[in-house]
Amino acid sequence: MDILKVAMPKGRINKPAIKLIQEAGFPIPDDLDDSRKLIISAPGAQMEFIMAKPVDVPTYVEYGVADIGIVGKDVLMEENRDVYELLDLGIARCRMSVIGLPDWTPVMNPRVATKYPNLASDYFREKGQQVEVIKLNGSIELAPLIGLADRIVDMVETGRTLQENGLVEMEEIFQITSRLIANRVSFRMKNEAIQGLCDKLQSIIAVKG
Ligand code: PRP
Repeated sequence: MDILKVAMPKGRINKPAIKLIQEAGFPIPDDLDDSRKLIISAPGAQMEFIMAKPVDVPTYVEYGVADIGIVGKDVLMEENRDVYELLDLGIARCRMSVIGLPDWTPVMNPRVATKYPNLASDYFREKGQQVEVIKLNGSIELAPLIGLADRIVDMVETGRTLQENGLVEMEEIFQITSRLIANRVSFRMKNEAIQGLCDKLQSIIAVKG
């Protein structure tokens, strides 16, 4: 059987993704994200994990240095890489929303800060609204608080960050879950291994509802 190279995101998706793969019957270590090692082999599962920054997962998969990867729908939509989206894993659920201060009044050509400039531009273009998108790399909620932007487009999970900073969700753009993606060539060359993993994950997801 082929060894599958898996691009595994560090951070919030990591733990639920490990749990799901384990539940599907693949013996992989619990503590992938605790180690400083960047390539971790799990021979019992016939897998090798490439520990990646979430935003880079689709890039590793498109270039074929990873056969498959686990990535949030948010990153997948923003990066728009040439990969197969195989499965909705149903983990790390959250949403992409337009957020602002509660007393915000509409202005011409508002500034919108976000980590997702492509996604935000597409959203407002489709709505026929002209905005100026400002790319930031983190702590996006700061932008309306300090006057950098009128609104932000960002991920909301528990809502705690918004609440603690006095911000409100104005519009939900779409729901986010993590996806299993595959390199197009790997999907053909390692089809048995990839399909086997997909089937087992799918049964676990079905059981969990
Ligand atoms: C994400 C997102 C929000 C927060 C939402 O940030 O950008 O800031 O989580 O989660 P909550 O609704 O549960 O509060 P992340 O923790 O990835 O860090 P960042 O601000 O550096 O992007």
